[in-house]
Amino acid sequence: MKVELSDIIRRYGEAQALRGVTFSHAAEIRALVLIGPSGGGKSTLLRLLGGLEAPDGGTVRVNGRELPAHEHGLHAYRRMNGFLFQSFNLFPHYSALRNITLPLEVVHGMTPEEAQEKAESGLRRFGLYEHREKRPFELSGGQQQRVGLVRAISSKPALLLLDEPTSALDPEMTAEVLDVIKELNEEGQDIILSTHEMGFARAVADHVLFLAEGKIVEQAPGSGVFDNPQSEQAQRFLSRVMQY
Ligand SMILES: Nc1ncnc2c1ncn2[C@@H]1O[C@H](COP(=O)(O)OP(=O)(O)O)[C@@H](O)[C@H]1O
Ligand SMILES: [Mg+2]
Repeated sequence: MKVELSDIIRRYGEAQALRGVTFSHAAEIRALVLIGPSGGGKSTLLRLLGGLEAPDGGTVRVNGRELPAHEHGLHAYRRMNGFLFQSFNLFPHYSALRNITLPLEVVHGMTPEEAQEKAESGLRRFGLYEHREKRPFELSGGQQQRVGLVRAISSKPALLLLDEPTSALDPEMTAEVLDVIKELNEEGQDIILSTHEMGFARAVADHVLFLAEGKIVEQAPGSGVFDNPQSEQAQRFLSRVMQY
């Protein structure tokens, strides 16, 4: 993917979540990773990049196309993307299978047969097929997130946006979800990920943005931000989170 941000502003009432975020990079990025302290603007930037919201100022370009600022246009763009958030956002009263087929039918216009076939093959691939009739409360957190991932990729999204997808999981479940994300990325799925899993961030990132107080304080390709942080803020943050 190619991402270009120019002077992005986003406010929520009095709070200014993004205060002039500018970024561009000539090379293709397959995994863009957002790190930084809580409240820095990671989730807000992810929502803008995925088309869930429009900025109050500035322009977002993804793969050369400027994202529309109005809801109607954004809606069409948003449908091209897949999302997974921190908390399990499966429908609690539907089975794993139905959680996947429902948006494929309703949002993506597949027939029930097509949707079922897609969902089953995704579930099979990630070792979830035998759980297909279970509802979310009958699944572990890691399984729920993997069902969420199958749902997010079943429509072959242009971008897969992941907002702290493992922050509610224990270490073993975290690993099983990160394995899936890494595999998808290696297969060519473009991802934009915010995470506190610094080891994973470093391993998977083509490019890292360090956000704090609504700005990109530092950014670098590969593991540059981790290996050689330039700003005091990034140095402080990394030394704190890498301490234990
Ligand atoms: N929907 C919202 N309503 C009000 N304030 C928000 C909303 N979303 C984010 N904010 C504020 O914007 C700032 C950035 O938040 P966020 O993007 O969630 O940061 P991060 O994901 O890095 O923790 C925070 O101060 C947060 O309180
Ligand atoms: Mg967040």
